[in-house]
Amino acid sequence: MTVKLNEQELIPVMSTDNNLVSYEEAYKNFTWEDVEKEFSWHSTGKVNAAYEAVDRHVDEGRGDRTALLFSDASRNESHTFADMMALTNKFGNVLRSLGISKGERVFIFMPRSPEFYTAFLGSVKIGAIVGPLFEAFMEAAVKDRLLDSDAIAIVTTPQLKERIPVAELPSLKHVIVVGAEGETGEREVSFEKLMAEASDRLEIEWMDREDGMQLHYTSGSTGKPKGVLHVHNAMIQHFQTGKWVLDLRQDDIYWCTADPGWVTGTAYGIWAPWLNGATSVIRGGRFSPEDWYQTIEQNRVTVWYSAPTAFRMLMGAGENIVNKFDLSSLRHVLSVGEPLNAEVVRWGLKVFGKRIHDTWWMTETGGQMICNYPSMPIKPGSMGKPFPGTYAAIVDDQGNELPPYTMGNLALRAPWPSMMRKIWNNPAKFEEYFKLKPWYISGDSAYKDEDGYFWFQGRVDDVINTSGERVGPFEVESKLVEHPAVAEAGVIGKPDPLRGEIIKAFISLREGYQPSEELIKEIQEFVKKGLAAHAAPREIEFRDKLPKTRSGKIMRRVLKAWELGLPTGDLSTLED
Ligand code: WT7
Repeated sequence: MTVKLNEQELIPVMSTDNNLVSYEEAYKNFTWEDVEKEFSWHSTGKVNAAYEAVDRHVDEGRGDRTALLFSDASRNESHTFADMMALTNKFGNVLRSLGISKGERVFIFMPRSPEFYTAFLGSVKIGAIVGPLFEAFMEAAVKDRLLDSDAIAIVTTPQLKERIPVAELPSLKHVIVVGAEGETGEREVSFEKLMAEASDRLEIEWMDREDGMQLHYTSGSTGKPKGVLHVHNAMIQHFQTGKWVLDLRQDDIYWCTADPGWVTGTAYGIWAPWLNGATSVIRGGRFSPEDWYQTIEQNRVTVWYSAPTAFRMLMGAGENIVNKFDLSSLRHVLSVGEPLNAEVVRWGLKVFGKRIHDTWWMTETGGQMICNYPSMPIKPGSMGKPFPGTYAAIVDDQGNELPPYTMGNLALRAPWPSMMRKIWNNPAKFEEYFKLKPWYISGDSAYKDEDGYFWFQGRVDDVINTSGERVGPFEVESKLVEHPAVAEAGVIGKPDPLRGEIIKAFISLREGYQPSEELIKEIQEFVKKGLAAHAAPREIEFRDKLPKTRSGKIMRRVLKAWELGLPTGDLSTLED
């Protein structure tokens, strides 16, 4: 399908003082080997990303610079790189004292807090593979991930530990509780107690570049969530994109609004800023426009990385609120997670006097791939151009490159430094992404214009992107059919002006159940409690029968067509 859109709108470059001076030059000349010289392994052959992100700054005389500015409703703390080195050393020793070693999986299931970052980097320092879990996950979601990865330990809080079904997790030996009060339960130990006993000096585990570092579970359209494994080598890309895309310098106060349960919150909430020696602002608690603007004002944030949903909510809150705050510290603003509407880019220009730079990537790519750079004109609505050292293309279903303005599969030439190295326990799933060699097939559709800018068109598969969070329809459907009233369920993403997409479920009921408002509420609560709040369908529609293939698969494509009032297309595989 060929598209032709009006792309006349161009927002020119606003500053010449950027780390990346010329995108075109860099795209021609840059190679990843240029970056490798930055890091210790260049001389030793061994590496640890946590050393490069924390200890290195201490060794090079920057130990008293601020690494972390943390605040939430009850705490307000600042930690230097030297503090973080000592804390993460202690935690590394805590894990070792429990007998945990290189390659074992340690999960972190707690809200944003200094302890989260301590545990995360301390785990990496001893060579463990760290798996962050979003605090909103309920028992079933937690259990799936811990079982699949055979996690040996989990760091959590007294509130969240209730959702860890220890008895059903044979590999899980240690539950490390932060802020434990009173008695500890089965397999439980107190974070504070162990930290107090641990030395702040640690022998770092020196790793090979291809050794595992972090495991992020993400959703696909079928089956359980996939454990996407990233290795220490990813740091090369985190460092260089931090430099050229986030435009970070050591004196920057940088705020990534993403939770570290998602990949943006680790790659760009931890690695990119700290590898570049910048200060990372972490704000806990819920979104509110006042709170967010105040966070920028109080911390004098210079670089801000957020998401379209958040920008749209800020836009909805109106300009009067913006004007109550001093946002003059902002130098550079960026977005990721879902399409950034041209409208939002225009709004950003008006209210912040800044361009919002869209970036495209995925959990599986591990780092930014297609971006808008401060030194490049922006076409509002476009994701930008491939990062130097990478190659992106639009290809057909056979892997042939398509000409400009033709919609197709958004593909990347494999490999690149932060590319996932495996899907935990699922080599077949991993291979699916690479079946059209040399391409990695993203699952997104897009087109490229004649200037080389990429334009996002949608997901090719059924994965839902709601408020920037990726939700697999299968996982929601599986939870729905556990409800006693539900016979069958089909789940789709329905376009929504604020959230990008919302989750809509089509449900057929079991004998003896009648559709009602109460039942809708009850089913929504059931998914909220059983899976996660963000995975609960905002809309539910009852149908006598759902469209299925002869092999029994729900045809989500048909549900989507119903929803949008579009033709249903080829129905030859429909059951009846
Ligand atoms: C999917 C990946 C790693 C970033 C956080 C989400 C969508 C991401 C954009 C963008 C349009 C985008 C894609 C992608 N997406 N960035 N700039 N414009 N869509 O990571 O949960 O792995 O989701 O998010 O559909 O495939 P994720």
